[in-house]
This record gives sequence, structure tokens and C-alpha cells, in this order.
Amino acid sequence: MLDYEKIKVDFPLLTKQINNKNIIYFDSACMSLKPRQVVEAMNEYYLEFPACAGRSSHKLGNIVTKKIRESRQIVAKFINANENEIIFTRNTTEAINLLANSLYLEKGDLVLTTDKEHNSNLVLWQILVKNKGIRHNIIRSDDDGNFDFEKYKELVKDAKLVSMVHTSNLDGTTIPAKEIIKLAHENNALVFLDMAQTIPHKKIDVKDLDVDFVAFSGHKMLGPTGTGVFYGKYDLLKKLKPFLVGGDTVEYSTYVDHKMLEVPEKFEAGLQDYAGIIGLGQAVKYIEIMGFNNICEQELKLNQYITQEILKNPRIKIIGPNDPNMRSGIINFYIDKVDMHQVALMLDEMSNIMIRSGQHCVHSWYNDKKIKNSARISLYFYNTIKEAEELIKNLNKIIQIL
Ligand SMILES: Cc1ncc(COP(=O)(O)O)c(C=O)c1O
Repeated sequence: MLDYEKIKVDFPLLTKQINNKNIIYFDSACMSLKPRQVVEAMNEYYLEFPACAGRSSHKLGNIVTKKIRESRQIVAKFINANENEIIFTRNTTEAINLLANSLYLEKGDLVLTTDKEHNSNLVLWQILVKNKGIRHNIIRSDDDGNFDFEKYKELVKDAKLVSMVHTSNLDGTTIPAKEIIKLAHENNALVFLDMAQTIPHKKIDVKDLDVDFVAFSGHKMLGPTGTGVFYGKYDLLKKLKPFLVGGDTVEYSTYVDHKMLEVPEKFEAGLQDYAGIIGLGQAVKYIEIMGFNNICEQELKLNQYITQEILKNPRIKIIGPNDPNMRSGIINFYIDKVDMHQVALMLDEMSNIMIRSGQHCVHSWYNDKKIKNSARISLYFYNTIKEAEELIKNLNKIIQIL
């Protein structure tokens, strides 16, 4: 059971008010709130040992080196990876760019994605199509919005890389990763999964999935902004060429040559966000204390209530399945001929209810479906039924006006 009195202490923002009203935060798919423990760990770095990891062997440098190693171990254990398979990045986007630029993709190589990719897993493939002549094919969802396995079976035969969003930030649905990976491997294709929306909500075991590469962002899972992780199987990482190079990536250099360090160092160029990485370790610890069972149970309870109330209004359409069991912590909806930015602005203005509106960095999907925009409520375990009731009350008022 989640202890909301303790959660309020850990997330002081939840008890703050703007214009005498509490803040109701339903935008965690974009950016989660941060518990005190994460912020304190970062402050400790800045105030107590603000030095470099790895390079300086004085007392402060040694503390940072040890703390960064601890964070790497914590993150590795969290997804059942090995320590040297975790590369710290600034976010999911940077991790996917690392993959796209490091994998030896050649003219004619086929990359498969879904039709619900975040721009982070779309634009870079389009650029490689233009610059390198790779091929990019999209597995379009079936008429019910589900992953089309039959189409995938056909196209994967020819693929070099399957690069797909695991849990969608558009509709909260999750693709059948295990089956997708098994079939890809049977056809000698590698698999990358964008788990930006999975890792904060579900226990993931990369070994059990047998996935080759994964990326996720710290800031969507209670961690500091500008932190992310790129996971890869060690043997595969060893074969990738480095993406960003320079300080911290080489063992030595001469005026004409250099020797690269091993994985993961060869992918972590320059001074890192040490405070952020330490904070990310604390974020993982906090999620583990909360427990994924509790997190999922609370999200589902809220999603069930909001879905049931929203669907009472026949004008509202939910993107993705109506069944909340299939939508993680996401309720993304629109109303024909209504600018959903207006809805989001009014919720914020009237009652400090913060949701996101727009095309949620999945412009390609909205353009294809000719839907102008939508309003997305995204949940996390610190949200309560009382907040959801407030949301529904205000939403109903707004819809009557618009
Ligand atoms: C599914 C998915 N992939 C990738 C990203 C990009 O994450 P970041 O901006 O942290 O790189 C997001 C962010 O919303 C996302 O939801």
C-alpha cells in the first residue's frame, strides 16, 4: 500500500498552492515530479564533493567515482543488466542517436519502426534514408490500433534493425516485445526498444526479453532532468563505433592516433552530469521502495475512474483502446472541432490542473489521421482519486462552455 502522507512529504510540490489552490500534476509522461531524496542527493554532490569522476584521484574525485559506479550498478540491477552495459546519456533521444550513428548501417539496410513513434525514433531514420540510402519501413497498426504481427512477420525477414517504441506516449499501449524480439532474432535482425514510457511503470528484465538495445529517460522516472540511459548487450556494444568522442573516451593519444577505452567509457565523452547520474540512482531506489505492484495498481485505479467518467460524454474520443488496462497511465483524448490546447489552458487557469496538449512529438500519427491535436492526462503513483475527481469536475464544466 502507498502511504500518501509520506509521499506528500517526499514531493513537497503536492502540498504547494498557486492562487490558493493545490497543484494537480497530470503530466508525468513528459516529466515526472522529483522526490526530495533525488534533489538532496544532487545537492550533496554540489555542496560536498563537486569534483570529476574517473580522472582526479584526490579525496573528492574518489567519492564521485565511487558514487557514479554505485549509480551504474543500481541502474544495471534495476533492469537486470551488467554494469558495463549501462551508458549514461542526456535522455532517450541522445541514446537513440547514439545507436543510429554507431551501428554500421549501410545503403539498403532496412530499419523497421511502428506508426506511433516519437520523433526521437523517427526523424533520425528519415535522415539516414536521405544521407546513407538505408531503407525505413513502418508497420502500421491494424484497424483496432494493435500491433500488426502478420505484417511484421513479412517485413522482418529483410530487416537489419527493428527499432520500436515499447509503450507508446501517444496511447499508452505496449507492443508484444518478446514475440517481436524472438522473430527478429530468427531473421538475424537486431532489436532496439524505446522504453521511455515503460521503465517508470513496469518491471523490465532485459535478459529475459533478450532485447539488444534499450533507451529510457531519467526525468520521466523521478530522476533529474537531462539524464538518460542507453543499454546494450555487452558484445554488441563492443562492436559499435563511438558516437561522441574526445576526453574520457580514450586510454591515450599521440599527435596522430589514439586508443579508445572499453565500453561503457568509450560512449561517455567529456565531463558527465555527475549530480544527475547520482540523482538517477536515487530515483531508481525510490521506485523500488514504492514497488511496481503498488505503482501499477494506483495508475490503473485512476485510469479506470477517469476513463469511465470521460466516456460518459459522447463527444470525447480516447486515442487507443477504451480499456484502461491496456493504456498504462495514459488517457489521451480529443473532441472533434475543439482545439484541445484550449481545454488544457482552461484546466490550468481554473484549477491548476496540469496536462499536456498538442501532438505529443508524434506529429506523424496526427498528420496521418488528420487529427489536429489532443489533450493527454498522464498519471503516476503520486496522483490521487481526489485529484482525478477534481479533473473530471472541471473538465465537464469546460466542455459545456466550448
Ligand atoms: C516514447 C518516448 N520516446 C522518446 C521520448 C523522448 O524522450 P527525451 O525527450 O527524454 O529524450 C519520449 C518523451 O516524451 C517518449 O515519450
